[in-house]
Amino acid sequence: MQYANELRKNGILINAADPGYVDTEINNHSGYVTVAQGAAVLVRLATLGGDGPTSGFVSEDGPVPW
Ligand SMILES: NC(=O)c1ccc[n+]([C@@H]2O[C@H](COP(=O)([O-])OP(=O)(O)OC[C@H]3O[C@@H](n4cnc5c(N)ncnc54)[C@H](OP(=O)(O)O)[C@@H]3O)[C@@H](O)[C@H]2O)c1
Repeated sequence: MQYANELRKNGILINAADPGYVDTEINNHSGYVTVAQGAAVLVRLATLGGDGPTSGFVSEDGPVPW
């Protein structure tokens, strides 16, 4: 959030994403979300326009409460 607040004036967005519990080596393939499904929120955030949201923590279902 400190990076987001500092960099928003430069048009740089900082967001955190929860891809879900993804089937990869890191969890010995116990995840129940495919890599393609987990990547969706990451791609969406990586391709936001310059006027998009910043300092968020989101999944494909919306904001993650924390
Ligand atoms: N899977 C999930 O459910 C999930 C959910 C939330 C967040 N994450 C986070 O997402 C990140 C990637 O996880 P993933 O699920 O995509 O795992 P992954 O498919 O197992 O990929 C892990 C990657 O990290 C690389 N790596 C491991 N140790 C390394 C080291 N010492 N130096 C350089 N590279 C190293 C591996 O390289 P090699 O292939 O060469 O070994 C591999 O490319 C992790 O930080 C994880 O905590 C994962």
